[in-house]
Amino acid sequence: MKKIFAITTAFMSLILLTQCDPSKKIAETPPPTPKLTYNTNLSTAIMNNCTPCHIPAKGGRKKAYDTYAAVKTDIDEIIRRIELNPTDKGFMPFKGTAKLPDSTISIFKQWKTDGLLEN
Ligand code: HEC
Repeated sequence: MKKIFAITTAFMSLILLTQCDPSKKIAETPPPTPKLTYNTNLSTAIMNNCTPCHIPAKGGRKKAYDTYAAVKTDIDEIIRRIELNPTDKGFMPFKGTAKLPDSTISIFKQWKTDGLLEN
């Protein structure tokens, strides 16, 4: 009887130990990547690449993209245009400039995927 008890206890502890393996838990839940926001990510990308033409404060006279509301409304058209090739009609950031790096284009796309957050 004592032997059975000992075996059962050992077996139970083994199950508990495997369930509680801390390394397993960390591997299953990677830390969440913070979502992109207009204020932190987008406004900088636009200020750096779409200036001066779309920034009224810099003397731009094209459609203003210096506000959250305007960028949010036009995000599909913005993504469409920055993904064109420099020789395509409608390409942005405009004729004569190179295509934006993939890492910059993906900021616009990821922001849309993340839900077009302002802050
Ligand atoms: C050198 C000036 C210049 C720069 C820099 C520039 N644009 Fe433009 N953009 C224009 C001009 C001119 C037009 C109007 C002609 C046209 O529609 O192609 C325009 C039009 C647009 C439109 C269409 C707006 C509408 O009326 O519907 C979008 C969207 C756009 N640009 C996005 C961008 C984005 C995003 C950037 C930065 C990555 C950028 N542009 C950089 C000059 C510029």
